[in-house]
Amino acid sequence: MQRKKIVAGNWKMNKTLPEAEALVKEVMQAETKASVTKIFFPPFPFLVTVNNHLHNNSRDFFCGAQNCSDKESGAYTGEVATPAIASTGTSYVLVGHSERRTLFHETAALLKNKIDSCLQHMLIPVYCIGEVLQEREANKHFSVVERQLEESLFHLSAEAIRKCVVAYEPVWAIGTGKTATAEEAGEMHSFIRERIAHKYNKETADSISILYGGSCNAQNAKELFGTKDIDGGLIGGASLKAADFVTIINSF
Ligand code: 13P
Repeated sequence: MQRKKIVAGNWKMNKTLPEAEALVKEVMQAETKASVTKIFFPPFPFLVTVNNHLHNNSRDFFCGAQNCSDKESGAYTGEVATPAIASTGTSYVLVGHSERRTLFHETAALLKNKIDSCLQHMLIPVYCIGEVLQEREANKHFSVVERQLEESLFHLSAEAIRKCVVAYEPVWAIGTGKTATAEEAGEMHSFIRERIAHKYNKETADSISILYGGSCNAQNAKELFGTKDIDGGLIGGASLKAADFVTIINSF
């Protein structure tokens, strides 16, 4: 079965509205492979505008939110609920990015609830996992990633997990310029797919896109994307420049 190839730009806390519009326009005007699903993850205030640009133009570009609440609605000042996100035409949500786990103390139980809330509202969760440097140095990276899968994703049915995307982002590679080698990344991606096959079945595992994130750029994307079990990238810094993002998309 053909898995979706995905290149997603996580803009994090960058850009103003005019800058966001300019970036989206520039990427969409460039020649990019239609077989690659492209996703912009702008800050919340830009979701409607970014979606408006996409819907007028293309079917292989999508918009995603960088976070969501696990609550449906109510007195949670500053939070954004999944029904609200879905109502803007947004299709994807990042869940469990390492910056949210570390800086905002998001727990495995909370992330599990966020994934459930996304699926209830027809949003595709992109569940982010990955070890910190000390864990890799202590050779604990496989067990850490396995635990992250079990704690927040493996409660789903086979039918539900097939709707999700997984992003492996080794924390030591995020924003550091220190990319995992294609071998290191490929080995972990194969491990993740094997764990999904073990928990569910091979067909389910083979249907789920697993993205690599962490200093993926215009230079190294080709080798990473050419590696078995790597179905694309979740790009931070290099997604902020249209030319680099387009090169990464066309690295497939
Ligand atoms: P960088 O590409 O800047 O390392 O960030 C990766 C990331 O965190 C994407 O979610």
